[in-house]
Amino acid sequence: MTDDIFASGILTGQHALITGGGSGINFRIAQRFAAQGAKVSIIGRSLEKSQAAARDIEQGGGQAEGFSADVREFGMIATAVEDACARFGDLDIVVAGAAGNFVAEAAGMSANGFKTVIDIDLLGTYNTLRAAYARLRRPGASLLAISAVQSMMPTAGQAHVCAAKAGIDMLVRCLSVEWGAEGIRCNAIAPGPVAGTEGMVRLAPEGDASMARILEGIPMQRYASRDEIADLALFLVSGAASYINGTCISIDGGQSNLGSLPFGAMLQESLHRSRNEETSVVTA
Ligand code: COA
Repeated sequence: MTDDIFASGILTGQHALITGGGSGINFRIAQRFAAQGAKVSIIGRSLEKSQAAARDIEQGGGQAEGFSADVREFGMIATAVEDACARFGDLDIVVAGAAGNFVAEAAGMSANGFKTVIDIDLLGTYNTLRAAYARLRRPGASLLAISAVQSMMPTAGQAHVCAAKAGIDMLVRCLSVEWGAEGIRCNAIAPGPVAGTEGMVRLAPEGDASMARILEGIPMQRYASRDEIADLALFLVSGAASYINGTCISIDGGQSNLGSLPFGAMLQESLHRSRNEETSVVTA
């Protein structure tokens, strides 16, 4: 934890709602906000998981509650926002973090597979921010979407994710234009690979040969830690970023400056390999 680099209690009394907050970087963001005094509402598809995350934060001395909603359904997220506001009051901070991902070639994926990721990532971000809009405390509210380096780097096996994340970056810019006059700030962050997350454990576990390939494409030669992502999120929602509006900040060790290779090449090779294996099974 790097809470000591910030003054303590900078979010005291504020209500932060975080979708996908039950695990991964979103959970670390929830912990960080709670450690800085925020009351945290965690929303996820699984009520059990959201509540367990909230209990974990409470055991650490923070204030949190778990709620359930599928961000693809506007009605569900709108209800969860109302329930969260009934518990902790109007919203000061919203983090739209819920996301889904899998590696699949565009030509091999079903239209529903593509739509599923667009619905969770892009539509889900819109639904979350739109549902929260009515309950934002203004001026001063801060909205944060979780994008990814894929929004800038065309990547084999990630057409659905790249399209969704690029859409999120533009959505944030549009909302900043529409809502800025009300004193609502809207930004995004675009992490590269983050250690210990479900995505990286699936794609390139630590110590695996594929990890070395990915590190070749990162100038800093390492993954981010979840704390580093939480630090950026905390900065952006805090008063220290009070004039930052409508931008997406990369936090990728410089990866997006080098482009998607060799990460993209690695995925492309593995996709070709599995395609050849399928062909050899069919023709055997
Ligand atoms: N390759 C190709 N298509 C896939 C796929 C894969 N690995 N995984 C899912 N799909 C397709 C399904 O085939 C389905 O399309 P179809 O109806 O035409 O067959 C569509 O996506 C929906 O799949 P389903 O499993 O019903 O969706 P879901 O809403 O239950 O879950 C995800 C979607 C993305 C959450 C799920 O794939 C998943 O659990 N991913 C890993 C966890 C994750 O994404 N964590 C976040 C990391 S950022």
